Amino acid sequence: MKTIHALAAGALLVTAVGQAQAAQIEVLHWWTSGGEAKAANLLKEKLEAKGHTWKDFAVAGGAGDSAMTVLKSRAISGNPPAVAQIKGPLIQEWGEMGFLGNIDKAAEADGWDDFLPQEIAAYDKVDGHYAAVPVNIHRINWIWANPEVLKASGVEEVPQTWDAFFEAADKIREAGYIPLAHGGQPWQDATVFEVVMMGIGGGDFYRKAFVELDPEALTSDTMIESLETFKKLRGTMDDNIAGRDWNIATSMVINGKAAMQIMGDWAKGEFTAAGMTPGEDYECVAPPMTEHMFSYNTDSLAMFDVDDAGQQQAQLDLASLVLSPDFQASFNQAKGSIPVRLDVPLDDFDACAKASREAFDVAMDEGGLVPSLAHGMAVSDSQQGAVFDVITNFFNDPDMTAETAAERLVSAVRAAE
Ligand code: GAL
Repeated sequence: MKTIHALAAGALLVTAVGQAQAAQIEVLHWWTSGGEAKAANLLKEKLEAKGHTWKDFAVAGGAGDSAMTVLKSRAISGNPPAVAQIKGPLIQEWGEMGFLGNIDKAAEADGWDDFLPQEIAAYDKVDGHYAAVPVNIHRINWIWANPEVLKASGVEEVPQTWDAFFEAADKIREAGYIPLAHGGQPWQDATVFEVVMMGIGGGDFYRKAFVELDPEALTSDTMIESLETFKKLRGTMDDNIAGRDWNIATSMVINGKAAMQIMGDWAKGEFTAAGMTPGEDYECVAPPMTEHMFSYNTDSLAMFDVDDAGQQQAQLDLASLVLSPDFQASFNQAKGSIPVRLDVPLDDFDACAKASREAFDVAMDEGGLVPSLAHGMAVSDSQQGAVFDVITNFFNDPDMTAETAAERLVSAVRAAE
């Protein structure tokens, strides 16, 4: 009885404190697929348990292209949301324009610098101050495979070289399935291309080409081979790729229409949401030559500069929640990523998450850890857009040679500087 009273009194106290500082904050994000929405909802629930109100501002569209367009127009009209999902160098761009607030208080109180990987924390700071909170680490280089389709096609394992991949694709096609599920959107094309290129070129080459945008690397034989391999993959896809969303492509693997998809591990969120278990119902395997590599993509929530003290408090509370060990575990299990806090144990995570963390550690030691260009971690927004245009045009134009595409890459990124 005593305990019940004590609990009730405690609950009242929490509510009172909550109400004194409670506020509504609008959160812009693009987590709208089945798995993504489940993950986002966990954050909403936690924030609301603190007494605040989450005003959902979800803008559908993989990789956030549409969300970023909407964010710009809201900011230009002087009405940005309090919180927005923004990534990589784009956080700096918003910070330098004076749009973002400062959440150092939360970072200091919880000791973020002690447990966040430095390279990742750097994206979230503007002039040395935290303006955003990182949520997760997604790995881009994955193949998601349906083992039954592979078996029915006489393919014993997910191919480990591109030659083996194309051989397997022929068998899968003959058996009546689509070898590679894909959605023809520029960011998905770029996702597949960067995975092919990192395997063929390795970590140093990737950094030269896709971080430094070095003209020599961009026109090298390695680049030509990567472009040609990428274009050949088009023949392993179906005829209806144009405009298809990534999660629709994932569902083709889930329901056994297609054998494989090359996609970051938010795709795993779809398998998880469908109640499937890796190693039994589906496979997660690194694409050819990328087993010890890791193209990373970290989602962050950036805090806009707000005047209202309650909203500022809600931003700090949200930031602190995001990096709490509990939330890191539950959110990332639903999202398909691994915790951005390297001190959160993965005991309850599935085999793909464990493999991801292992690859992260090996890649960090061996130089195979690279920022994803396709997911806004490597170059400026305009340079990324320039690369997307060339890659997508090349992919869709049967007459464009790899040499022409490589030359165009050089001039496009130069013009976008
Ligand atoms: C990525 C983002 C992921 C996931 C994916 C598909 O860029 O980091 O969180 O949402 O796009 O939309």
